[in-house]
Amino acid sequence: MATFTVIYGSTYGSAKTAALDICDELTALGHDAKCLHSPTAESVTDSAVDCLVVTCATIGMGEIPSNLMPLFCELKDTLPQCEGQRYAMVAFGDSSYETFIEAPLQLEELLHDMQMKPAIERLVIDAAEVSDPEELIIPWVNSLLDTL
Ligand SMILES: Cc1cc2nc3c(=O)[nH]c(=O)nc-3n(C[C@H](O)[C@H](O)[C@H](O)COP(=O)(O)O)c2cc1C
Repeated sequence: MATFTVIYGSTYGSAKTAALDICDELTALGHDAKCLHSPTAESVTDSAVDCLVVTCATIGMGEIPSNLMPLFCELKDTLPQCEGQRYAMVAFGDSSYETFIEAPLQLEELLHDMQMKPAIERLVIDAAEVSDPEELIIPWVNSLLDTL
């Protein structure tokens, strides 16, 4: 059994639904997964967690969704070092915008600065092409589990 913390940055609900689906899938497979609605820096840097899973949309001119802004600012200010810890990113966006998946890319840059490493290649959900994110997310979760 592995342990996961799942967080989301979502304005209209797609990334939140994805986070809840990921949490449900991991739990159904016997893992310990928590979806945090208001994550703190301590909760996302907990070294007892095997993988931090982030689902994040992009809104406006590449902005980070407001529910993740407090965490983003706190981590940017304090830059906690998380060597040996891993994350997995699901990036939501729309390729018709110039700032395609800008927010998840910014978050990933921050996680890299914190020395976290990707457990798996980011999953990109392009709203211009994908009508049912769950169809991509469930196989991706299974590939993520293969990496642990
Ligand atoms: C007002 C608005 C602005 C958006 N801006 C961007 C953007 O700058 N870059 C991008 O990649 N996607 C952009 N999108 C697409 C969203 O990221 C995409 O629809 C995503 O699935 C929304 O996730 P959410 O439902 O969790 O908020 C925008 C969507 C809306 C409605």
